[in-house]
Amino acid sequence: MTTTGSLLPLIGILSDGRFHSGSELGRQLGISRSAIWKNICKFAELGLEVHAVRGKGYKLKYPLTLLESSRIYAGIPDGTRSSILQLEILDTIDSTNSHAMRLIQQGKLSLQPGQYSIHLAEQQSDGKGRRGRQWISPFGQNIYLTMVRLIDTGVIATEGLTLAVGLAIIRALRELKVPGMGVKWPNDILVEGRKLAGILLEISGDISGICQLTIGVGINVRNQPESMEQVSQPWTDLYQVTGKAMNRNLLVSQVVCHIMSALKEFENNGLKSFIAEWQDNDVMKDQQVELVTTRSSVQGIARGISETGALLLETSQGMQVINGGEVSLRKSALNDS
Ligand code: BTN
Repeated sequence: MTTTGSLLPLIGILSDGRFHSGSELGRQLGISRSAIWKNICKFAELGLEVHAVRGKGYKLKYPLTLLESSRIYAGIPDGTRSSILQLEILDTIDSTNSHAMRLIQQGKLSLQPGQYSIHLAEQQSDGKGRRGRQWISPFGQNIYLTMVRLIDTGVIATEGLTLAVGLAIIRALRELKVPGMGVKWPNDILVEGRKLAGILLEISGDISGICQLTIGVGINVRNQPESMEQVSQPWTDLYQVTGKAMNRNLLVSQVVCHIMSALKEFENNGLKSFIAEWQDNDVMKDQQVELVTTRSSVQGIARGISETGALLLETSQGMQVINGGEVSLRKSALNDS
């Protein structure tokens, strides 16, 4: 943990995006104006840009809402809330998935089947994406969420689960009036070919018995373009897509509720009840695509998914059934011709 925690009260006051004078801030926080200035200087390390104007004070370039567990809980109905064992909000962590998996390894999470432990961070210093990629995670701008759940039916029962989680996120965002989204196999939410959200599912424990599902979700809410310079894929965020600032606490409540209800649906019916919805939202369906693995690449036409959530790829050698793993799918250059 860094010293970010001590900056939170100051960030909290400035989060409204208005000017606050040094003396007003000092008075509210019970520290001197020069201590305020020293703290403001640390904001750059968090990627938070501040305007300092003589006679007016300080203002955040982009207003933000800090995550608050009481606000998140307020958006979750009682029946659903009772399945949440704990909800933790961290200022800074390497990765919420790694953090949750450490808690599991250290025996610090004693979940019953059906219960959830929820971990959020304002910032990740080593956020993980699929295929060993980094998930750039600047402070206060996005959602970095991990939900842990115990299952006692072995790994095989989780086949296709990532797809159900992707659809749950789409359902949650549609309820919040986010337009134009689609899914890209196996775990991306896109808007007009640009990545809005991604899922990283990790499983630990006994692969044929009790295991822990660590469901990591990253959603781009409002990124400062400067923070995203290292991201090589085309990306977008909710601010660009809707033109409005999104309340991150409400967003977390919605996403958590929808993931929990999708997991229940998945537990009862498997992937079956999600397949038609997947096909309706699949941005790659019937497109010429290239499937890239660490060693090779295959061209073909994406034909949706199988009953277990594998990708169906029509190639010159016939239909190939591609299970998840370290593969990535992209539109083939042939599409552009
Ligand atoms: C991907 O699309 O490559 C998956 C991205 C998953 C990112 C989330 S952010 C919260 C959780 N913690 C991590 O380190 N990764 C996931």
